[in-house]
Amino acid sequence: MLEAPKFMEYLPLFINLKNRNCLVVGGGDVATRKIELLLTASAKITVIAKSNSVAIDEFSNSNQVTLKKREFRKDDVDSYYFVVACTNDKKVNQNIFRACEDKTILVNTVDNPELCTAIFPAIIDRSPVIVGISSGGRSPTLARIIKHWIEQRLPSRLGGVAEFIRERRGKVQDSISSIAGRQNFWSELLNGIFLEKLLRNKIESADDIFHRQLEVFEEEKILGEVFLIGAGPGDPELITLKGARLLNSADIVFYDNLIDQKMLELIRRDADKVYVGKKRKFPGIRQEAINKLLVENARAGKRVVRLKGGDPLIFGRAGEELEALSKENIPFEVIPGITAASGGASYAGIPLTHRDVSQSVRFITGHRVYDHVNLNWPELAKDNQTLVIYMGLAWIKEIMEQLARNGLDPKTPAAIIDKATMPEQKVVIGTIANLAQKAKSALINGPTIIIVGIVVDYRSEGSKDSSQA
Ligand SMILES: C[S@@+](CC[C@H](N)C(=O)[O-])C[C@H]1O[C@@H](n2cnc3c(N)ncnc32)[C@H](O)[C@@H]1O
Repeated sequence: MLEAPKFMEYLPLFINLKNRNCLVVGGGDVATRKIELLLTASAKITVIAKSNSVAIDEFSNSNQVTLKKREFRKDDVDSYYFVVACTNDKKVNQNIFRACEDKTILVNTVDNPELCTAIFPAIIDRSPVIVGISSGGRSPTLARIIKHWIEQRLPSRLGGVAEFIRERRGKVQDSISSIAGRQNFWSELLNGIFLEKLLRNKIESADDIFHRQLEVFEEEKILGEVFLIGAGPGDPELITLKGARLLNSADIVFYDNLIDQKMLELIRRDADKVYVGKKRKFPGIRQEAINKLLVENARAGKRVVRLKGGDPLIFGRAGEELEALSKENIPFEVIPGITAASGGASYAGIPLTHRDVSQSVRFITGHRVYDHVNLNWPELAKDNQTLVIYMGLAWIKEIMEQLARNGLDPKTPAAIIDKATMPEQKVVIGTIANLAQKAKSALINGPTIIIVGIVVDYRSEGSKDSSQA
């Protein structure tokens, strides 16, 4: 699959063309369709064409457009806001484009994305709600197919809903003074039966609900809420549906290290995104400061998301964040995620338990406390279990030696999974006697999990990963 460009070639903007001068150069069928579209936006249209369709003559006769039957001249574009070039002569189209570029006038050249500073999207019109879809000029057909998908899902009465709200915005503004309060009011209303009623054109009952809710709305009680969402270990598709939905509804998102850019794209454009990641040797923002930010933003009435790698409740200091929220009586919810052990084991094809050889699995942190890995080694060195060691790469040699010293057979299989579930995932297989050396030779640099136990021998071929180092 080809990689799509990471930047936006075109910024979607909705332009108000009402009574603005627009020029269409060309008089064929394509020009006619563009004129029809511009007329729906109430633009003031001039058409320059040597010859033209009957429809354009009719637009001209009914004074909907000004028609000039002649060739295009460079200075024709001078007084226009937006120009559409749709002649069947490539050279003329190029001249129109250049003339517009010289004067920084927006120009669309039909069927030639190279000669466009603005492009027409496929449009779903539920005015005043409008959806524009663009493939950046790559494939108008693809854009039309997407339009069809969306069209089937968008209720036809959406425009009426927007109008209903517009008519009552003033009333809400008068009753609720804060922006956060008004946002909360509308979002509560639109998430309930009210929207249902409007979409079924039950205007009177929708109006009743609106007034009742406005009456009982208590501004002082506005308190935001915090969602701790597990992002999974790396592959952006591993977030839960609920996590993705809530991410898209957040006002502000505090996110960790290792969160994929594609996942950040699930966040609403107008929401704030704040990086609060920590790395080994780069502690970043202090935990207390993160706790404070969560509390303060929720107090301001915002819908706050704390997006954490893997599962929030596994080695994620979520406990401290939840404690801070509880103490301040801030409502919160934890949305679980796939922890690195599950994601890594699955993508590497290693079962974490096996009825014959491993009846339990332990998640362990290899992070040093006071300069040594402080664990109950005799317990960990027992047979018939699987160990998954998080944050263990820096101390892998010490960890493996401790396991052997405490009685685990040096031939016990072990694996290290680097950047689990990401495109660069690497899996190194060995034993507890040689894994540290093998990881070093394979230039593993983390994040990693280490899996120790006979289960590693049960690794399935044909798992998603193919990168055994
Ligand atoms: C602070 S802990 C957070 C764990 C996270 N809450 C979870 O449930 O996976 C960070 C450690 O998780 C492990 N980890 C996280 N993402 C990983 C990945 N994609 N591949 C391998 N290990 C990962 C590494 O051991 C890393 O040092």
